[in-house]
Amino acid sequence: MKRFLFLIILTGTVGAGAVYYRSAAQQHVSLNTPKTLKEAYRNYFPVGAAVGYDALTDSPGVAAFISRQYAGITPENEWKPKRLQAKEGIFDWQKADKMADFAVQHHLKIRGHTLVWPLQMPGWIYRDGDGLAGKTLLLQRLKTHITTVMQRYKGKAYCWDVVNEAISYVYPDPLDARTDSLYMIAGEEYIAKAFEYAHEADPDARLFYNDNGFEWSKKRDKIYRFLKKLKAAGVPVNGVGMQAHWGIEGVPENYLRETIEMFSDLGLDVQLTELDISLYPKRKAGKILNAHDLAGEDAAYTEEKKQRQADIYKMIFRVCRESKGKVTGITLWSGYDWPNYLTKKLRKENHPYLFDEKLQPKKAFYSVTDF
Ligand code: GLA
Repeated sequence: MKRFLFLIILTGTVGAGAVYYRSAAQQHVSLNTPKTLKEAYRNYFPVGAAVGYDALTDSPGVAAFISRQYAGITPENEWKPKRLQAKEGIFDWQKADKMADFAVQHHLKIRGHTLVWPLQMPGWIYRDGDGLAGKTLLLQRLKTHITTVMQRYKGKAYCWDVVNEAISYVYPDPLDARTDSLYMIAGEEYIAKAFEYAHEADPDARLFYNDNGFEWSKKRDKIYRFLKKLKAAGVPVNGVGMQAHWGIEGVPENYLRETIEMFSDLGLDVQLTELDISLYPKRKAGKILNAHDLAGEDAAYTEEKKQRQADIYKMIFRVCRESKGKVTGITLWSGYDWPNYLTKKLRKENHPYLFDEKLQPKKAFYSVTDF
């Protein structure tokens, strides 16, 4: 009965607001690729994809495609603190549970994302009446959130991004300089505490610190120093997640290898957790490009760019395979091309994934599965 109900949900209709990024072509899916990602990486590590509830429910084709190609999923937004506990003490499990049920039904591994994300916590967590919450209250709220969520998905999520994006790009400034922030109220301690609460809630889960900007050595090294300090203090952190939202310039192979080695030498699992290779550059003249900087960039998805993108993917996956045991997973931030946050702002496609918007394999797919 449960299965039946979920099937109805999967095949249900879609809200009008979401129509922009859903291609009708996704309804007609050919699932014929010679070797799936799941098969190709069986002896290495799980290759997963972030997926949203709406994408799964949009089309049974998408659900079948994801479960056939990928070994795991990351719930794209449904498990984020703001979504799960928008109001204190009132948890909304509806969509989050459906994601978990989908994964369990298809034997997909779940990366839990994310328990604490300083940039996107629900506002109430910082408040006490009309003023700012104190440290004790804030930590207590974090503990309640982490414990409640992890216990619900115990045995379903094998790992968690316990803390996401806590370290700023600013050097050598504090981790986060906003006044109503976890950092300003509780100092760095909230990070160690979050890992301790998570370990208590599910001692079997692998606990990750997840962040962006590893391609900038200053930020990478700042994260490294911070995690080294946590490890030395005995904080139960097991892994580092490199988001890896990268551009068409890619990352140098030796830099990627060095980064994997550095974190692995700290005793951490290394995962690429949100990988995508946009057809636009990520930086120019030492500056990170934002959506508005890209407005003038050439949007043509030429054969040459497809090849360049495929070559970058090929190198990244090869380095990760050669680092088997150190690298314990790669997750793409979508299972197939669709306008991500950058593209939506730009209203331009950036085609960053291994399959196109019709779920057909691209050059990049073959470059990571033919080996
Ligand atoms: C960060 C978060 C993800 C997602 C992206 C934007 O990388 O970790 O959950 O929100 O930003 O798509």
